[in-house]
Amino acid sequence: MEPVYVIGSGMTKFGVLKESLIKLAEEAAVGAIVDSQTAELRFDRIIVGSQNPDEFSGIGHLSTMLADRLGIVPCGGTRVETGPSSGSSAFEVGFSLISSGLSDVTLVVGVEKMCDVERGTASKILSRMMSYQCETRYGGTPAALAALVARRYMHDYGLTRDELSLVPVKAHRNGSKNPLAHFQKETTVEKVSNSKVVASPLTLFDCSPTSDGSAAVVLASRQVVQELGLLDSSAQVIGIGHATDYHAVQHRLSLTSLNATVEASQAAFDMAGIGPTAIDVCELHDAFSILEIINMEDIGIADRGKAMDLIRNGLTELGGPVSVNPTGGLKARGHPTGATGVAQIRDAFLQLRGDAPQDLQVDEPEIALTHNIGGFGNNIVVTILRRP
Ligand code: COA
Repeated sequence: MEPVYVIGSGMTKFGVLKESLIKLAEEAAVGAIVDSQTAELRFDRIIVGSQNPDEFSGIGHLSTMLADRLGIVPCGGTRVETGPSSGSSAFEVGFSLISSGLSDVTLVVGVEKMCDVERGTASKILSRMMSYQCETRYGGTPAALAALVARRYMHDYGLTRDELSLVPVKAHRNGSKNPLAHFQKETTVEKVSNSKVVASPLTLFDCSPTSDGSAAVVLASRQVVQELGLLDSSAQVIGIGHATDYHAVQHRLSLTSLNATVEASQAAFDMAGIGPTAIDVCELHDAFSILEIINMEDIGIADRGKAMDLIRNGLTELGGPVSVNPTGGLKARGHPTGATGVAQIRDAFLQLRGDAPQDLQVDEPEIALTHNIGGFGNNIVVTILRRP
């Protein structure tokens, strides 16, 4: 395999935005092209991750439209869909193209615009990624399944409601310093625990919002990176793992562990030749607060049932041994589903390059990991980047 590098990135603000889907994707993509100094180069491919632009925005054939809008025709265009992990899966396709030698320069864009439809419609569209036979026909939603998981985890490991609230409190504290985050306001344990119930025991502040936004990165081969003189400011992709689980949660082995995370992270660690203790900073898929806890345990950052100890003792804060979701996570950065995976990779890349937003920079990180879920606890992609 040829080595693969991230050499530039761009991102729009996440939130409830007036710009169209295409405009958002274009803004992020242009940002990545400018940042990577590749405007004069010929892109071989554009890979777009988007969960459901057809239903959220009434738009199909996204990669073709974008290639045209960006003026990078005749590069090949592909849209990738794996639910809310579509962005990371698009990145994985881009990685494979460069590592196989099929492409020298690939643009990866993640985008979603979820706020043009009413909340009920958005919820219906999101719920289609779950099992109809076992879940959605009974009214199941992602939040309802996350609530089941939270209840079971509380029962098994004695997690309390107020302890769980520490996860969104950290997310909002970090998000308050991230100028592109959907929510830039701090919150408190009391406010999280007492906000309106979405699916008991989860409240409004345990849930990521529905958001609009886009993020993009440019991937390149070693030869291109050297020609551009960008080796020192790039990040090498050293591990990628991707795994599914049984579609319906009731068919899985455990409620408090996502086997797709275990499989995907192990594959990524094997490829990178490192283990969880090597991670300095990570962006985990905290679509619901309980997932940050479970993800840490499945990846091996914390022992089973012990993630809360790390969070309670501030060990996952900026400055701790492993900084978890320093840019606010899905909870505060926002979660325009198809954009999230690319935004996570962008934030990890900026951390390694030393360009994270002010007050959110981890001290000289070497290794960054991103973890992106598609479906409820399913179709999970783990990506590991290293500073060269
Ligand atoms: N966290 C904190 N505040 C939130 C919020 C969230 N997740 N979602 C909305 N708010 C705020 C809004 O900014 C708004 O504040 P304002 O009145 O000051 O403007 C207020 O709460 C009400 O917003 P609204 O959009 O009416 O909330 P809602 O009740 O319709 O929706 C959720 C809230 C949590 C149900 C919705 O965001 C949701 O479904 N999230 C989960 C999305 C999901 O499943 N994603 C896929 C996961 S893989």
